[in-house]
Amino acid sequence: MDRHYIEFTTPETVDVICDQLPSPADDEVLISVHHAGINRADLLQRLGLYPPPADASPVPGLEVAGEVVAVGARCEHLAVGARVCALTHGGGYATLAMAREDHCLMLPDTLTTKEGAALPEALLTVWYNVVERGQLSAGDTVLIHGGSSGIGSIGVQMAATMGATVLSTAGSQARCDAVSALGAHFVANHRDGQLIEQFTNAGYAGEIDVILDIAGGDLMQANFDLAAPDGRIVSIGVMRGMQSEINLATLFMKRLTLTGSTLRRLETASRARCFDAIREQIWPRILAGEIRPIIDSCYPLSEVLAAHEHMRVGTHFGKLVMECQTMG
Ligand SMILES: NC(=O)c1ccc[n+]([C@@H]2O[C@H](COP(=O)([O-])OP(=O)(O)OC[C@H]3O[C@@H](n4cnc5c(N)ncnc54)[C@H](OP(=O)(O)O)[C@@H]3O)[C@@H](O)[C@H]2O)c1
Repeated sequence: MDRHYIEFTTPETVDVICDQLPSPADDEVLISVHHAGINRADLLQRLGLYPPPADASPVPGLEVAGEVVAVGARCEHLAVGARVCALTHGGGYATLAMAREDHCLMLPDTLTTKEGAALPEALLTVWYNVVERGQLSAGDTVLIHGGSSGIGSIGVQMAATMGATVLSTAGSQARCDAVSALGAHFVANHRDGQLIEQFTNAGYAGEIDVILDIAGGDLMQANFDLAAPDGRIVSIGVMRGMQSEINLATLFMKRLTLTGSTLRRLETASRARCFDAIREQIWPRILAGEIRPIIDSCYPLSEVLAAHEHMRVGTHFGKLVMECQTMG
């Protein structure tokens, strides 16, 4: 089938290429992409700073939503015509994309493909890092840094519906208020320079069981100081820097666990396991409207550079997505 996809010939030049996609493999479905989500990793890939894994599509785009147009021989749950959102192994910035059947979620009539495209990466990232690695349980206190982000806006809602006390950070008072409206019990402004004091005054310093850190750098020692004994800190991003100076005494005095991951390098089977758990435990809350995708803006795929610039500047709240069918 004819596919149109985006290729960055240089970091600031976009070509639209047309080719033919083969039939899906036995465990894959072919999706007519109505919308694709944008992630920070896509910006890095465009700049040549985050090459895709060897077995991934070189075409950018990690999450899509649309309609299944072909299914592999061993697919059991999805048929042609199903509306889905899916995690792709690259290839999402296109009119057609391939995904494993077990990396798809069926969209209900209540969710548009624009909304669906905002979900897979955030749901998977939060589930794997906060629930699996961070071992979040109902009753825990969790700090989701960057509640204003694509990842954080879903993370705050997921953790709140799971029965946790949810804390977060954002970069202005207005953004803190908007994160509170998503269900966070307390949100600190990370730009006001008094992060520890803000959490101390609110009564949460030293009480936080799980921390999802999207920024690294100098935030890591603050995480150590804010964590409860036996706390788990999960690092997934380095917007404040790849290097952190940390006091190891805090680590051993509090028996902290510091871990991290990147979804792009997570094994297929682990992703599928997370999707199973999400289908069972989180998807019903999405169907009930308790967790909703937060979309800031939608761009045509042809304006991908403008969409990336919007994300780079960082004025968005929630997710940026692209409409893909106008390309073909
Ligand atoms: N490891 C993984 O598997 C994985 C998967 C997905 C995403 N990530 C990472 O997670 C992060 C968020 O991704 P996203 O797609 O949700 O990005 P995004 O929507 O662009 O969000 C960026 C967030 O960073 C916050 N921020 C910006 N500068 C900051 C600073 N100096 N200190 C603290 N926070 C700051 C922004 O909040 P304010 O403007 O309100 O401050 C915003 O909430 C990125 O670092 C991304 O690379 C990792």
